Amino acid sequence: MTNTQYIGKSVDRPDGRKKVLGQATYAGEFTQENMVYGYIVQSEIANGKIVKIDMKQAEKVEGVLRVFTHENIPQYLKINVDYSDPLAPPGNPFRPLYNDNILYNGQPVALVVAEDFETARFAAGLVQVEYKAEKFSVDIRENLGKATHKDVDDSPKNRGDAEGAFAKAPHTISAEYYQPRHFHNPMEPHATIAIWNDKNASFKIYDKIQGVRSSQAYIRGVFSLEKEKVAISCPFVGGGFGAGLRPQYQLFMAALASKVLKRPAKVTLTRRQMFSFGHRPANLQRIKLGAEENGKLTAIQHESFGETSTFEKFSEMVVNFTGVIYDCDNVDTDYQLIPVNVYTPMDTRAPGGATGMFGLESAMDELAYKIGIDPLEMRLRNYADRDQNADKPFSSKELRACYQQAADSFGWKEKYTLQPRQKKDGHALVGYGMATGIWEAMQQKASAQAILQSDGKLIVSSGTADNGAGTYAIMTQIAAETVGVSIEKTEFRLGDTDLPKAPIQGGSWTASSVGSAVRMVGKAMQIKIYDLACKTYPVKTSNTTLSDSKFENNQLVLKNGTTIDFTELLTTAGEDQLKVLHNAKPEESRSDYSCYAHACVMVEVNVDEDLGMITIPKIVITVAGGKILNPKTARSQILGGIVWGIGAALEEDGMIDPNYGRIMNANLAEYHVPVHADVQDMEVIFVEEEDKIVNPIGAKGLGEIGIVGVAAAIANAVFNATGRRVRELPITLDKVLDLD
Ligand code: MOS
Repeated sequence: MTNTQYIGKSVDRPDGRKKVLGQATYAGEFTQENMVYGYIVQSEIANGKIVKIDMKQAEKVEGVLRVFTHENIPQYLKINVDYSDPLAPPGNPFRPLYNDNILYNGQPVALVVAEDFETARFAAGLVQVEYKAEKFSVDIRENLGKATHKDVDDSPKNRGDAEGAFAKAPHTISAEYYQPRHFHNPMEPHATIAIWNDKNASFKIYDKIQGVRSSQAYIRGVFSLEKEKVAISCPFVGGGFGAGLRPQYQLFMAALASKVLKRPAKVTLTRRQMFSFGHRPANLQRIKLGAEENGKLTAIQHESFGETSTFEKFSEMVVNFTGVIYDCDNVDTDYQLIPVNVYTPMDTRAPGGATGMFGLESAMDELAYKIGIDPLEMRLRNYADRDQNADKPFSSKELRACYQQAADSFGWKEKYTLQPRQKKDGHALVGYGMATGIWEAMQQKASAQAILQSDGKLIVSSGTADNGAGTYAIMTQIAAETVGVSIEKTEFRLGDTDLPKAPIQGGSWTASSVGSAVRMVGKAMQIKIYDLACKTYPVKTSNTTLSDSKFENNQLVLKNGTTIDFTELLTTAGEDQLKVLHNAKPEESRSDYSCYAHACVMVEVNVDEDLGMITIPKIVITVAGGKILNPKTARSQILGGIVWGIGAALEEDGMIDPNYGRIMNANLAEYHVPVHADVQDMEVIFVEEEDKIVNPIGAKGLGEIGIVGVAAAIANAVFNATGRRVRELPITLDKVLDLD
């Protein structure tokens, strides 16, 4: 007999085998008969106008079908159409090929469509664009005077008198921290295959996206179509990191080409073009902290300036965790935007939190050092038992256990010394650092459908996505266990606008939102099964109730010990299938609490004294994220977060040439991300945390908490190793060597 208890077990990914065998079909791989291929031409100036586009040479190339520009796209794309998408920030969304305005370097200015990709790419190189360039700027630090609060999203509440308390504090620090642009760099570049059906005036589209309804809403708005006329599929996502939260211009391009040419059209972005839309914005932080002699915080001032484009106001939650994470009566936070001539930034891997906590947790380390107390002790002395920001209790918070277990496993007490430069290993200075991580445990509305077939198969579906997070796995587990069907007979479907509504996959909220919907639809299926059993077997079921019945091993198990097999039940009752839909939303009781996941990161770094090279032999992270649904996929999420944290700390830097406003390192050779040699021993420990409030499954979400404290912990360890405080990321070797 199978055991159908799956939640909390390290179940393999149902999609894993397909992926490693190359059998998982990604958006750009749904090859169609008679398909055409597009290649995008990008602007070479950062601001100004297109004067002339000469495409004669390109059009002469055999196999080229059409060159689309703002001068020849259909008029219906310019009148009364909405180019926004569900995540569009305030402003005017970018409209591809709309007019002669150039808003940023790399902007698509033409689409060459040909019978094959190579021809399109070759011909794209022959398109000549003349520009009238205007002045531009791409550096927020040169434009601080343009900082604005206008259209900034969700400024947190301040409390007390931070300035007064800072002035009176016996110990203070005041420092500036800077983080450059990061580009998402998922393994799978953006890709779209659009199939226009001229007879029905409808689209079938395969799009690389973190939520199919985003693409659907965008195409509906742009092409003025009803919902039923736009079907989007994306069963697999080769990594997102936020790059797929908003539909991108290749979606528009493919749809345009297919509709006009009446053939299926495919447009994929090259790796270089993946640097031509959205990124984690450059950010400057100014932090002032004040504390008593004993390390108790009396003042926190946290001011942040984020980069945005000239056409949209993109906000991040950079300072929003500041008033939550530590106990302090005087907190003043502020967030402003600085528009520069780049594409609108986008959410990227723990947007805001990863940035803000780099600053705050570096500052906490600086203050602890100045006072002369252990940075771990400093955190404990300022532990927040209540969310002072929202004036609410936490739904659960095992951060204290995170600190304790990280310290025990890392050997913090034995290893750490307050004074830097205390330990050497050959040529390397050895240092230790730590930081706290925090991320909000959010829940969105989501729906799920369950079908139990008479052959015993359970099919549960929801229009969510799986960016690699393990969504297929955990949803299959929740569905199978709740209905009591073995996992081999359970299938979870996602990534299609035909399926019940679900939010985009982002914000670490999928387990919480879709998981709750799957749990609840499973419960609803239990009712269906029980009711059918009562109708079909009135004698066997007499004197039993739903609540004293169990659902396991493909059977309904009644209180009196009688078992009713699902297949037998449906067959006897003459039902092909049972079907039920559930719309889940956050419980109202949740609003009385603050729901956050927490983490503690401890890092050992080695810094070569002669060469400045930094390596990280050991990272320990402890995570309190509520119920861990699948330790294997959960660990994988956290490992990914750590690796990106190493990237942020030591490597990632989206450099824009100030003379041209163009990304200089738009490739994976020069935009450095961690490779195997950069990643050594990582230990992930999940701390027990029971949360009955956050949602029906008790899981807080793990997609982003893994990255949040990592960059600060590394920067703090670099200080401990070298005595050099680096406040500008990435910490490259020139910043730790004495070059003067
Ligand atoms: Mo995430 S940056 O919300 O995809």
